[in-house]
Amino acid sequence: MKIRANLSLQPLNTLALPGRAEFYCRVESNEALAEALAHARTKKLPVTVLGGGSNVVLSGDVSGLVIHMATRGVERAPGLDDQCLHWTAAAGENWHRFVQYTLAEKSYGLENLSLIPGLVGAAPIQNIGAYGLELSERFVSLQALEIASGKTVSFTKNDCRFGYRDSVFKQHAARQFVITSVTLALSTVPNVDTSYPALAAALSVTSTPDKPQPAEAEREFSPQEVSDAVCRIRQSKLPDPAVQANAGSFFKNPVLARQCWQELLAQYPQLPGYPQPDGTVKVPAAWLIDSAGWKGASGQGCAVHREHALVLVNTGACSGGQLLQLAEDIIVDIQRRFGILLVIEPQLIGC
Ligand code: FAD
Ligand code: EPU
Repeated sequence: MKIRANLSLQPLNTLALPGRAEFYCRVESNEALAEALAHARTKKLPVTVLGGGSNVVLSGDVSGLVIHMATRGVERAPGLDDQCLHWTAAAGENWHRFVQYTLAEKSYGLENLSLIPGLVGAAPIQNIGAYGLELSERFVSLQALEIASGKTVSFTKNDCRFGYRDSVFKQHAARQFVITSVTLALSTVPNVDTSYPALAAALSVTSTPDKPQPAEAEREFSPQEVSDAVCRIRQSKLPDPAVQANAGSFFKNPVLARQCWQELLAQYPQLPGYPQPDGTVKVPAAWLIDSAGWKGASGQGCAVHREHALVLVNTGACSGGQLLQLAEDIIVDIQRRFGILLVIEPQLIGC
């Protein structure tokens, strides 16, 4: 385990925001991680965990020890019945590569979560979700080290208290644990879910017109076809961080009480809304921001993406503070126009 001082974190976050780690350590094994945590305890250094850096806003230098997860390893074990396999991946595994590996090994169930950037260890933090599926639906358990004690702790699905872009690790267990591995239940039998409208639409376009096809609703798509379609939609909608620095959706989609939603709808008949099982309605923050005229608007060195109003991009050399100022301006305006308080989705780290 090698600890470096005063390391730039700019290449390690997909928003390419400037900021330095007081101390930095890349860990490639759980033993090195335990050693790094012991060092932080001895020196009384606060610990910040970094994965792929695709869901953080670096708002300045980070004091204490930044631990960069680079542990590898994937294992499978029999699940609860003969169609179920439990896959365990180390926190440092790349999420998309893990999804593709399970598909190649004929284990199905993660196809809708293809191409989400970042590492396996961060996936439970905000309960990653896309195209009709959340991680929680496949989740079995995770292993973590408690930062304060170095003890190994297991979390069941119940312990994690998953919600929409939420878990215990964003609430009262925030910054207390380093997740070391995640176990998911996948199936050896394909059972794809293509009900998400954008996904269904993308798949219907892939049918070859010259070959007779059953009605789209009856056509069986393979998990790999679903994964490929998800990748195509994502590539067409979201900017690639390697080309335009961003952290995906910058705000969560607001979830409104039905009555509140109906009142807004009376005022804004075009407002889309997705009814949730508990009677609430999820509203696309992108629509609110777009219809308020923010699409393409720029701040200092940053902007609202021209193609997708929910994505903020670093267009030059903006600081975390400048990006957060643009976010704040949007929040204030959306609150004033619609009475809805937008919540920032990525995690703030640094001063
Ligand atoms: P990081 O950004 O490194 O960390 C995020 C947070 O998790 C930080 O608070 C960090 O301290 C903590 N953390 C990281 N690893 C650990 C660990 N091992 N133990 C404890 N804490 C840890 N998200 C979605 O849910 N759905 C999407 O469709 C989606 N699309 C995206 C598209 C783009 C273009 C981008 C840039 C981002 C997108 N995201 C999406 C957000 C992001 O990909 C996910 O949140 C991802 O899980 C973050 O992984 P990471 O390794 O980059 O985490
Ligand atoms: N829309 C606009 N203007 C825009 C873009 C979108 O009005 O510029 C409206 C359209 O009505 C569109 C709706 O917003 O139908 C929803 O847009 P989209 O399908 O792109 O999804 P989203 O709500 O913006 C959410 C997640 C994404 C996830 C996709 C697909 C959140 C905060 N974001 O985006 O997750 O990939 O659905 O499931 O829930 C992320 O978390 O970083 C992320 C990218």
